[in-house]
Amino acid sequence: MANGNFQLAILRWYEENGRSLPWRETRDPYAIWLSEVILQQTRIAQGTDYWHRFMRRWPTVELLAAATEDEVLKEWQGLGYYSRARNLHAAARQIVANGGFPRTYEGIRALKGVGDYTASAIASIAFGLSHAAVDGNVYRVLSRYFGISTPINSTGGKKEFQQLDDELLPHDKAGTWNQAMMDFGALQCTPQSPRCLLCPLQESCYALRTGKIEELPVKEKKLKRRERFFTYFLLQNNGQTAIRRRGSNDIWQGLWEPILKEEPFPKEETEVKHILTHQTIYARMMAVKAVDSDLPEGYQWIDFSDLADYALPRLVEKLLEKH
Ligand code: ADE
Repeated sequence: MANGNFQLAILRWYEENGRSLPWRETRDPYAIWLSEVILQQTRIAQGTDYWHRFMRRWPTVELLAAATEDEVLKEWQGLGYYSRARNLHAAARQIVANGGFPRTYEGIRALKGVGDYTASAIASIAFGLSHAAVDGNVYRVLSRYFGISTPINSTGGKKEFQQLDDELLPHDKAGTWNQAMMDFGALQCTPQSPRCLLCPLQESCYALRTGKIEELPVKEKKLKRRERFFTYFLLQNNGQTAIRRRGSNDIWQGLWEPILKEEPFPKEETEVKHILTHQTIYARMMAVKAVDSDLPEGYQWIDFSDLADYALPRLVEKLLEKH
């Protein structure tokens, strides 16, 4: 099916099945912004309740801006993620100071607590601006329908899905489109047990046709890296320092390094954070005067000026550059 038919089917589905939500009855950007901030981490049923309470207590952005932060936090109580409430209040004051609600994507995006998704949602719903709001629902619908297996949490994936949704977005119905995709993802093309039997796109959906509903969208597993803490001691002894060659049962086999103590220290004391495939190394280096010439097992004295002749791990080079 061509993209045009996909668009038509989504819009028609939305006309028949879209949720009637109170902030869909208004073009007031304040009311729409409030709904989007509340819905960032809150389900519709609970969010609707809070939206009514806020609109009743502070019907305009000027009134919200005139409230104290404590009053706003108190009204927010129970919703969690309180930075949303603090940002909401700060943004209300930002809006009033700027003389009114911003009417461009960039202006909306500059409000505290508003990211790409929320800015696109507000810009399209309140002002009809052509910005595709890509959230988890959109990733799911597009990856299944078009058979896109690029991980949705990869940089490339985010770009690809944004680009596709930008192309699909009907420019005269941006707000409707974004809300149609939200509802289609939330009600029809659900994460578990999607309602494919009743889906208007069943004939042309890639995932349904190929049995890949469960496999799409693809999410890249963020691997957990082991954390290690390295403190290097750069001994100083009459123009000499001590190094050793690293052994064979750890990273950097055969490379050279100064005296190493591996023991946790507060992360704030890190000079270099070094990320490897399976581990993150927090490292710091201390120059210390040697008190005698005895060295721990395996270390040897070399002239400082010869240090550059030894193969050192990049991490050690980065630390040396700081000393
Ligand atoms: N989730 C976030 N914004 C929404 C909206 N405008 N309608 C429904 N669900 C949403």
